[in-house]
Amino acid sequence: MKALVLAGGRGTRLRPITNTSAKQLVPIANKPVLFYGLEALREAGVREAGVIVGDTAAEVRAAVGDGSRFGLRVTYIPQEAPLGLAHCVLIARDFLGDDDFVVYLGDNFIVNGIAGFVETFRVSRPDVDILLTKVPDPSNFGVAELDTAGRVVGVAEKPAHPVSDLAIVGVYLCTPRMHEAVRAIEPSARGELEITDALRWLIDRGADVRSHVISGYWKDTGRVEDMLECNRMVLETVAHRVSGRVCAGTRVSGRVVVEEGAEVSGSHLVGPLVIGAGTRVRDSYVGPFTSIGANCELSHTEIEYSIVMERSVIRGVRRIQDSLVGKDVTVALAECAPKAHRLVLGDHSLVRLDR
Ligand code: G1P
Repeated sequence: MKALVLAGGRGTRLRPITNTSAKQLVPIANKPVLFYGLEALREAGVREAGVIVGDTAAEVRAAVGDGSRFGLRVTYIPQEAPLGLAHCVLIARDFLGDDDFVVYLGDNFIVNGIAGFVETFRVSRPDVDILLTKVPDPSNFGVAELDTAGRVVGVAEKPAHPVSDLAIVGVYLCTPRMHEAVRAIEPSARGELEITDALRWLIDRGADVRSHVISGYWKDTGRVEDMLECNRMVLETVAHRVSGRVCAGTRVSGRVVVEEGAEVSGSHLVGPLVIGAGTRVRDSYVGPFTSIGANCELSHTEIEYSIVMERSVIRGVRRIQDSLVGKDVTVALAECAPKAHRLVLGDHSLVRLDR
C-alpha cells in the first residue's frame, strides 16, 4: 500500500503564520503536524509516500527530505494550484500505479494512528474505506450517511442540513477504483475536484464503501484554537525529560521536557510543557500546555497555553496566554515614554491587548 500525503493548500485560516510557512509544518509539542502523520503511515506498514506540494513546496521538502528519517521513500508531486483533494489523486496516477493507497491530509491529527484501520482494510478490502468521527458542527466537513451495517450510502460536502453528525476525517483508504471516479467527476461550486464527489460517484455505481467511526481525538488543525487544543492534548502524553540545564532557583512542577542545550534559571515551570533545544528562560513563569520552540529567549515573562515557534524573543510581558507566536518574533516592553504600544505586524495579524 502506498500513501498520498496532501501537503499543499494555502492555510488561509492560520494567517499570518501561513503567509511564510506551510500549515502542515506548524509545530505540535515542537514537532510539525505533518511528521505525526508520516510516522502514523510508517507504523501502518506504508513504505512509499507521494507528497503533494503547492506554494510551500520548498519548505515541505526541506523538512521532510527523502523521507528516510521516517522510514519512508518520498516522491514529491507538485500541484499547480489547490484544485481539490480528488485533483491530487488525479495528478498522482503515475506514482500510485495499480496499488491500493491511503490518502492522508497533512493537516489532520489522529490519535493512536491508523494501523488498525489499515489492517482491517487489507483483510476485507472494500473498494474504499473512510474514517468518520462524531462532531458537533458537521456542516464544516464532508458528512456521511450509513446504513445499519455501517456501509456508506450517502456523502455530502459541507451540507447546510447534515443528515448525520459523522464528519469525514482526512484519511481515505482506496483501491484503484478511485482513479475511475476522480476522472469522471466535475469541479464543485468552489472550483475544486472534491473527493466527496468521487465517493458519491462510486456509491451511486454500487461500489462497496465502508467506514470506521473513531472515538480518538482528531482535529483539522486549520484554526489557531485547534492548534492550541491539539498541542494541549499531545503535551498530556509527554514523559518528563530534562536534557538541558535547570539551574538552582527554578521550581519545576509536573511533567516538563527541557531539550538539550536549553537553560532555565530563576523561573517557575508548571507542566506539561516543552522547552526547545538552545532556548533560554530567565526569571519567567511557563505554565501548562505551552510549547516553546528551539533557540527562543524568554525573560521576565509569564506565558501559558501557548505555542511559540523557534528563535522568538519575549521580554517583560505579563502575561501571555491562548497565543500562537511565529518564528523570529520579538515581543518586548517599550523602554521609554510615552507609554504606548508600538507594533510592527504582518498582514492578517491578530493582536488582543489588555485594557
Ligand atoms: C476536506 C474534505 C472534507 C473533510 C475534511 C477533513 O475539507 O473536503 O470532506 O471532512 O477535509 O479535514 P477541507 O479541509 O478541504 O475544507
